[in-house]
Amino acid sequence: MNDETPQGTSDFVVVANRLPVDLETLDDGTTRWKRSPGGLVTALEPILDRESGSWVGWPGVPDTKVEPIVSGKLHLYPVELSSHEVTFYYEGFSNATLWPLYHDVLVAPVFDRGWWQTYVDVNRHFAEETARTAAEGATVWVQDYQLQLVPRLLREMRPDLTIGFFLHIPFPPVELFMQLPWRKEIVQGLLGADLIGFHLPGGANNFLFLAERLLGLDTTAAGGGLRSGLGEVRLDDRVVRVGAFPISVDARQLIGEATDPAVVARAAEIRRELGNPRKVLLGVDRLDYTKGIDLRLAALGELLDEGRLDPSDTVMVQLATPSRERVEHYMKMRSSIEEQVSHINGDHGQIGKPVVHYLYQPVDRRELIALYLAADVMLVTPMRDGMNLVAKEYVACRTDLGGALVLSEFAGAAAELRGAYLVNPHDLDGVKNTILEALEQDPEQGRRRMTKLHEQVVEHDVHRWAESFLGALTPP
Ligand code: ADP
Ligand code: F6P
Repeated sequence: MNDETPQGTSDFVVVANRLPVDLETLDDGTTRWKRSPGGLVTALEPILDRESGSWVGWPGVPDTKVEPIVSGKLHLYPVELSSHEVTFYYEGFSNATLWPLYHDVLVAPVFDRGWWQTYVDVNRHFAEETARTAAEGATVWVQDYQLQLVPRLLREMRPDLTIGFFLHIPFPPVELFMQLPWRKEIVQGLLGADLIGFHLPGGANNFLFLAERLLGLDTTAAGGGLRSGLGEVRLDDRVVRVGAFPISVDARQLIGEATDPAVVARAAEIRRELGNPRKVLLGVDRLDYTKGIDLRLAALGELLDEGRLDPSDTVMVQLATPSRERVEHYMKMRSSIEEQVSHINGDHGQIGKPVVHYLYQPVDRRELIALYLAADVMLVTPMRDGMNLVAKEYVACRTDLGGALVLSEFAGAAAELRGAYLVNPHDLDGVKNTILEALEQDPEQGRRRMTKLHEQVVEHDVHRWAESFLGALTPP
């Protein structure tokens, strides 16, 4: 930590709800920094490891003033949030209004005027902190649904800046977005950017349609292909470009770790610790109702009940990182998942041999990679997901070309990972049959599938994603 961190000198600034590290208070009252959860940090960390720049974000605890921090080449500028702001802006408007609205209304979004007002206020704090941090003419990259008003607010404060915005979650169909009482304000907020990026062309085109329909603006559509041309929104004094930039993982880094002999040995050890089962299934998620953890447990439970899976030779490991634990639907989902796990183990486990090994905790990165290597079948079954980096991490790590990926059609990753075992998570019988197919795949055919998946992720890694977005934002 360095109190003399310079202000107003950063040529490249990332603005995200969270800093890449979270401040954690231990039982004895001392604090320490730990990695923040989620795919946004996974994706941006390797980019910012290479570039010198600044990151403006919340340190993850309320009512705590934290001084700017220097970490290697990166300067972190904490934005303080009060308990009220955490409740109304983060848990409320971001995660009980926008999150369900943007994820197919899987649960009913709450439209609360007080939450909205706090969302506006907090977006203004983030814009102010960024305006203080950025150098004259700097490039600012605003991230995700928590900060959709920042581009416009920041442009009003600092018209000299080049501003990009990237949405890490799905952008909803027009009919759903239209439910939002503050729909015009959100579209206007985003239009403060010079370039707006989505994972998929569908999201980009939904946004362009809304800019025309809600604000009467002149627009051109983005191309239909996964990485095709940008659409435009023509304002009086400038043009905003809009397109699809599918995010990815640091494939080379993952390959390096996955081929480390110690990690390979740990993978073998994990299988031994699991009792040397014939088959290992794996799920890795934040505990979120969008991820379909309940669905895959239901599929497993039915397959065991029907005798189509043998509990003496099949094991499932489910990692679930705690997430948004004070938001009602997250609490409910946790209880129902834990009930399902107990049910399956109660019905089909034996002493010292549970069928489902469930960990409600984040695990160390090398342990996670060892688990990817140990798993015969990776289950990624969200009802809706912007991209899902777990799916890409799994196939990046499988340099041995072993394993199989069962992937929901409703994850953004399915647009690229066509060689996965694709499933419709609303079709439980289909999911069950596909899990069995993946478990019993012909090894040679499995290797062919995995080769294609692995090559796709190596070729389209996170560096290519960042270069394509930043290249479009600030052309040479
Ligand atoms: P989201 O951003 O919605 O959380 P993603 O799948 O895109 O979903 O990204 C999740 C990231 O968090 C991945 O990098 C994954 O490796 C990591 N992760 C998820 N669960 C765990 C866990 N239990 N322990 C460690 N890392 C985890
Ligand atoms: O990508 C979705 C996202 O909300 C990110 O913005 C965030 O990094 C991640 O999921 C984890 O969520 P939270 O910050 O609410 O713990």
